[in-house]
Amino acid sequence: MRRKLAAGNWKMNGTQVSLAELAAMQGMSKGNVEPLICPPATLIYAAAGLKTGVTIGAQDCHAGENGAHTGDLSAMMLADAGAAYVITGHSERRQDHGETDGDVLAKTEAAWAAGLKVILCIGESEAQREDGSTLEVLATQLKGSVPEGATGSNLVIAYEPIWAIGTGKVPTVQQITEVHRFLRTEIASRFGDDIAGAMRLLYGGSVKASNAAEIFAVEDVDGALVGGASLKATDFMPIVSALN
Ligand code: G3P
Repeated sequence: MRRKLAAGNWKMNGTQVSLAELAAMQGMSKGNVEPLICPPATLIYAAAGLKTGVTIGAQDCHAGENGAHTGDLSAMMLADAGAAYVITGHSERRQDHGETDGDVLAKTEAAWAAGLKVILCIGESEAQREDGSTLEVLATQLKGSVPEGATGSNLVIAYEPIWAIGTGKVPTVQQITEVHRFLRTEIASRFGDDIAGAMRLLYGGSVKASNAAEIFAVEDVDGALVGGASLKATDFMPIVSALN
């Protein structure tokens, strides 16, 4: 049985005072749900030290192990600071930093080498949704960014339609169902039924307490990657509860 994952991505938000929100999330880890917060890298060490029972992750890593890469952080450094997960391929990194599927693949391999689990993001733009190429776009992203060696324990796939991120727009339950079923089938055809059956598939994009239960009722949705509604404990905790 796949353990549900409620992942919060704080993006470029949060300073020391935000650790109080994390502290208020204590006790969320129960049953079959794993709560995870990916704060900015500046807070990982302190966040992991709080020992709230909420797993801590990072939002990005460099594909290299170390060296002359000013401003970058390697997966090993993030693991050393207390991260257990890292997000790769978020659309904001693909857009703002020109990251390609090949870059995402290399970062994912680097993360695995450092012992991190990866939440790998894929998703179509509004134009691609409208011209009917969503599944083709997702298949290309999966093929190009998921390395060989993916398993149910080292990889989570997050479907984040770009047009739903931070917009309040959410795909219909039918659209989420179609995409998640398609993703599991694609993973099965490359890695086999056992790995596809064990791999967690998250939905991300304007998830909040009011729509979480409906989204989580979709058979192939194993949790969520939440942005804005993960910043405050009072917003995030009801989403985690909806997975229970
Ligand atoms: O990674 C989470 C994300 O991109 C969704 O953001 O603010 O729409 O929940 P938001």
